[in-house]
Amino acid sequence: MSKETLTAIDNRTGKEYELPIEHDTIRAMDLRQIRVEPEDFGMMSYDPGYANTASCKSRITFIDGEKGILRYRGYPIEQLAEQSTFLEVAYLLIFGELPTQDQLDYWVYRVLRHTYLHENLTEMLKTFRYDAHPMGILISATAAMSTFYPESRNIDDPDVRLKQIWRLLGKLPTVAAFAYRHRIGRPYVYPNSELGYTENFLYMLDYMGQSKYEVNPVLARALDVLFILHADHEQNCSTSTMRAISSSRADPYVAMAGAQAALFGPLHGGANEAVLRMLMEIGDVAHIPAYIERVKRKEVRLMGFGHRVYKNYDPRAKIIKRLAYEVFEVTGMNPLLDVALELEQIALHDDYFLERKLYPNVDFYSGIIYQAMGFPMDYFPVLFALGRAAGWLAQWVEQITDPEQRIARPRQIYLGPERRDYVPVDQRQPVAMAC
Ligand code: ACO
Repeated sequence: MSKETLTAIDNRTGKEYELPIEHDTIRAMDLRQIRVEPEDFGMMSYDPGYANTASCKSRITFIDGEKGILRYRGYPIEQLAEQSTFLEVAYLLIFGELPTQDQLDYWVYRVLRHTYLHENLTEMLKTFRYDAHPMGILISATAAMSTFYPESRNIDDPDVRLKQIWRLLGKLPTVAAFAYRHRIGRPYVYPNSELGYTENFLYMLDYMGQSKYEVNPVLARALDVLFILHADHEQNCSTSTMRAISSSRADPYVAMAGAQAALFGPLHGGANEAVLRMLMEIGDVAHIPAYIERVKRKEVRLMGFGHRVYKNYDPRAKIIKRLAYEVFEVTGMNPLLDVALELEQIALHDDYFLERKLYPNVDFYSGIIYQAMGFPMDYFPVLFALGRAAGWLAQWVEQITDPEQRIARPRQIYLGPERRDYVPVDQRQPVAMAC
């Protein structure tokens, strides 16, 4: 019978070690016993970017990157996008099961009861410059909420945790809508709890005092589906940040502000904006071959392509591609779609991309939809953050209730100078100030 162990031989010493295997994984701490001299620190694993390191055991999201599978709590993303709503998916992610009708009604009621901001926070939002990046506003406002709800630091109390979950899910769309209205100089529209979650968000963005105002149901549903598709993606950069900050027992507001900051980067949540800029730069189908050559010369990356985990078509990209046509029925066609479709076709048949398993990711088409709906480009990561908030909260709860978790504290391989003595300022040689 096979044994669930890994035998390692240290060729420096000839010693043999037997390391237990659980879930196809060895514990990094089991390597520490491997040492040449008894006083050595012991062996570590080196993994920049955590490409092959599991930082937690999780029951929330399953991804099979080779096969292009994504499931939340076991449910395929395709079924959830087709049949569920964002708030129901948020419930599923956070509590682990789909709610009954009563549970769902109560959940929606509680979240929508927390959409109003404290007026001091609203006043604070007004102090940003007119052209402030909406992600900067969102990150700052989320962190500032920590000062309004100091009880949130009591993270070991499940009731306190639940309240912060309602608050964060309820208030983030309001902050996001105010950030949008601020930039265009329009008065803020306060939430309307008679509308659905995503409907209310579109209303706060758009309402201009009309007596007969209705949110377009196709656009509200499309955005709701986009929120579902972005709701969780296991241990990505921003979620790992949420977990890392929470591991120090910080409150969920500052932890989520950190997660949002991680999402802001162009390699993560900023990618859909980068895709759109790329499509505009290409401008015309005729210019695609020349652009592909630049990608192959590694002068530029094909934004919206490639993924650390997916080595196949991102299942979310397939759903978004279909959704794009539904949105264009309402908004009119986005001319960049032709460029995107042709670019995708060329890349999907080109050896450079096939060999590296580079396929469209979630961001390839989402930016085109957002643009057709009238969102400014720098607002795209905000939309991503609204959906991902559900996953961040689910992962936060799992992190802080997991008895195996400790403060996140990776190791390093130190390659800097050996011990040296302090040099008085008048005896130093100038060194270039590059960093
Ligand atoms: N265009 C062209 N070549 C690429 C691309 C791309 N988009 N992505 C990866 N490659 C190439 C690399 O140059 C490298 O080639 P090489 O082996 O010849 O050196 C190879 O593919 C592997 O690339 P890595 O950078 O090692 O892949 P990694 O897993 O670190 O990066 C990432 C993943 C950051 C997503 C990358 O594919 C990328 O930059 N994509 C574009 C940005 C993007 O769309 N980000 C959104 C990700 S999804 C999300 O955050 C929601």
